[in-house]
Amino acid sequence: MLQSAKPTRDHLLVYLNGERHEVAGTDAFLTLSDYLRLRLVQVGTKIVCSEGDCGACSVLVGRVEEAPGGGKLVYRAIDSCIAFMYQLDRAHVISVEGLKRNGLLSPVQDAMVKCHGSQCGFCTPGFVMAMTGLLEGDGASTGGGDRRGEALTCDELRAGLTGNLCRCTGYIQIMDAGCSVDPGKTARLSELYPDGPMVEIFDSHAQDDVVVTDDGRTVAVPASLDAALTFKTKHPGCTVVAGATDIGVQRNKGKIDPREVLCLANVGELKGVGHEGGTLTTGAGERWSGVERYVEDLVPQFHDILTVFGSPQIRNMGTIGGNIANASPIADSVPFLFVMGAELEIAGPTGTRRVDINNFYQGYKKFDLRPDELIARVHIPLPTEAQTLKLYKVSRRRDLDISTFTAAVLMELDDAGETIKGVRIAYGGAAPVVLRLPKTEAFLAGKVFGEDVLHEAGHLARTEVTPISDVRGSADFRLQLAENILLRFYHDCAQKMTV
Ligand SMILES: Cc1cc2nc3c(=O)[nH]c(=O)nc-3n(C[C@H](O)[C@H](O)[C@H](O)COP(=O)(O)OP(=O)(O)OC[C@H]3O[C@@H](n4cnc5c(N)ncnc54)[C@H](O)[C@@H]3O)c2cc1C
Ligand code: FES
Ligand code: FES
Repeated sequence: MLQSAKPTRDHLLVYLNGERHEVAGTDAFLTLSDYLRLRLVQVGTKIVCSEGDCGACSVLVGRVEEAPGGGKLVYRAIDSCIAFMYQLDRAHVISVEGLKRNGLLSPVQDAMVKCHGSQCGFCTPGFVMAMTGLLEGDGASTGGGDRRGEALTCDELRAGLTGNLCRCTGYIQIMDAGCSVDPGKTARLSELYPDGPMVEIFDSHAQDDVVVTDDGRTVAVPASLDAALTFKTKHPGCTVVAGATDIGVQRNKGKIDPREVLCLANVGELKGVGHEGGTLTTGAGERWSGVERYVEDLVPQFHDILTVFGSPQIRNMGTIGGNIANASPIADSVPFLFVMGAELEIAGPTGTRRVDINNFYQGYKKFDLRPDELIARVHIPLPTEAQTLKLYKVSRRRDLDISTFTAAVLMELDDAGETIKGVRIAYGGAAPVVLRLPKTEAFLAGKVFGEDVLHEAGHLARTEVTPISDVRGSADFRLQLAENILLRFYHDCAQKMTV
């Protein structure tokens, strides 16, 4: 089916709490939470929202990553309600049932009991899994290091638990529980589930292309970009799935039920992030937590926006390629990519081509990608010393909220630091697509940087946008934001200049 010389595997290879599962047929299309609860009757994992919004369904997923002396399993918390089994080929899933040893609670569970961190208990397994992941040093919020011996700080806990909601206990007891765990006395997951045997098995299947079919449905999980493109060419109408943080929600809301799926989870060429010669390059399939960690010192403004992108569970699955191809006018990364002039490297059966992201979108959810193509990489010029970059996200809550309005402003002043040499402005949530503001940019070029000028530019910016009213805000509110954000930009810059 993938037209590769090697045979394809017809089942998924997934480890769950240390046990091997060969998943085929209908089960391959289930969400992980349904597989755990309905197939394995492991009902410790709870489902509340089914949209990635509450974290009750959090589990840990370990995948092989390079490490000194060979690969090791690195565990990250994800929302199992919006993850599909076909995304978990060659992964080890640990659910709350998998934490106990000899019938005893894990140190995190024990702390939740002792600190009264649980009332109805529905959110508790999710908090326990997220905290266990944090103690492992699982992802962006903890820098991904080995935390043995270090207790979690309040800030780490707050940042690491933004994807977990509790409706009845209150967070003080839960925070107390997290802070009271002594990581020095907590077994690492690799001690509970030794890496070696699983890594060996996963590595021996690393080149497998997988195709699972069931009752007219097909999912391909190729191991290479070539195999992915071959499948896409033969099945141009297939649904591409990367992290499934958009697709999973749409499917759970009954908006889609894909019959043909191309899952990119195992395509190594789409992963990785690095920078060279002033350009940041990231694979389209790189998860946000990887990008977030990489840009922390390199582009702190982008890092700050990513810390309020969904939650750790969402950033551990969601990808930059998915954010771009989902084509939402409120995609948080897109205004930044617009002002930096990012280029999308698009791969197709006859090779690759590059498209300036400013020319990629052609209307609401319409963009320049043929049915046989995939976004492979994103090349992002980095801001220079002479440029000032500011990124804004306006939402009703700080954490785990979809944007009402977003903005990116990149400005360069002349050598005297007075006159605007050039400025790029992009707004999201102000039109059916993220847009640049050419009239406002032209108005500002050559003007002396000052409050009055930015105030006037704000009036002009209003005329370049066409926002709508929706549950997140009225059109009038968004028009006001389109105007005011430029004054905010002025004050943010002026404050920095006088410090
Ligand atoms: C609770 C929650 C909170 C969220 N918060 C935010 C937020 O704060 N800011 C924000 O911007 N978004 C947010 N999102 C949306 C989502 O997480 C992001 O858009 C994410 O980047 C999508 O990536 P993905 O890999 O999960 O995409 P998927 O769901 O796998 O795919 C999304 C779309 O992209 C296509 N696609 C994926 N990869 C490729 C590729 N390489 N080539 C071509 N097409 C491709 C898919 O076919 C699909 O149409 C949130 C989602 C949830 C559920
Ligand atoms: S059930 Fe709420 S995030 Fe999964
Ligand atoms: S204990 Fe009831 S929702 Fe948290």
